[in-house]
Amino acid sequence: MVKEQIKTKDLNLWFGSNHVLKDVNITIYEKKITAMIGPSGCGKSTLLRCFNRMNDLIDSTKIQGKVLLHDEDIYAQGANVTQIRTRIGMVFQKPNPFPKSIYNNVAYGLAIQGKHSKSEISHRVEQSLKDAWLWDEVKDRLHESAFSLSGGQQQRLCIARALANNPEVILLDEPTSALDPQSTAKIEELCVNLKNQVTILIVTHNIAQAGRISDYTAFMYLGELVEFGASDELFTVPKDKRTEAYLTGAFG
Ligand SMILES: Nc1ncnc2c1ncn2[C@@H]1O[C@H](COP(=O)(O)OP(=O)(O)O)[C@@H](O)[C@H]1O
Ligand SMILES: [Mg+2]
Repeated sequence: MVKEQIKTKDLNLWFGSNHVLKDVNITIYEKKITAMIGPSGCGKSTLLRCFNRMNDLIDSTKIQGKVLLHDEDIYAQGANVTQIRTRIGMVFQKPNPFPKSIYNNVAYGLAIQGKHSKSEISHRVEQSLKDAWLWDEVKDRLHESAFSLSGGQQQRLCIARALANNPEVILLDEPTSALDPQSTAKIEELCVNLKNQVTILIVTHNIAQAGRISDYTAFMYLGELVEFGASDELFTVPKDKRTEAYLTGAFG
């Protein structure tokens, strides 16, 4: 049975006077891959960033409505934002490892929590690198700089860094758009593999990618969630004319 992981209720967001998200009601299911597609500027990244309160960092943001993580409103007064961001990890478009060693990129978040022993940390680092399919490539060079890795390896390192906290959800914002086709394929396969352990929400402008890896797809247009459904249905029999137009390449 599919369980609900995140749910929004009448979510609206403004950047200043720009009404960017309009009455978004979406349910993200546990341990599934949900893809968010839609033309540039339609609010995909903004919606993704609502799920770990990253828009809070932008001064002009105004948010109305609810984002429920299971039944907990992550925007409720007194919500623990640091804890939310460990439960919901994020990976960005451009690989952004810290200027640290491969090992310390993954260990850092655990080390600053100050509640894990050295051996626990080293165990989690190894497990996270294995889960991100990077361990075999880096196990003999853990103390080299993260910048010595290729772009695809750096992105898998960022995934390992997100996994180190044992998150419930990982948000990926166009994680392969800066990568070559081979590195892209590897990350797609990795995502499919990871859904055994974590809920995945991925923004992509690559419709084929959404079709290959996702269980559910959300199509957004001009700040609205136009259509949401099982990917095999949404891609074959879209219900809304705008979804159909987008899928057939009528607009970018
Ligand atoms: N940091 C920001 N400050 C102000 N406006 C922003 C910011 N980020 C995005 N926007 C605006 O919000 C809208 C949605 O952008 P975004 O969520 O990035 O779209 P997408 O990811 O679908 O391309 C756009 O009009 C964009 O200009
Ligand atoms: Mg975006």
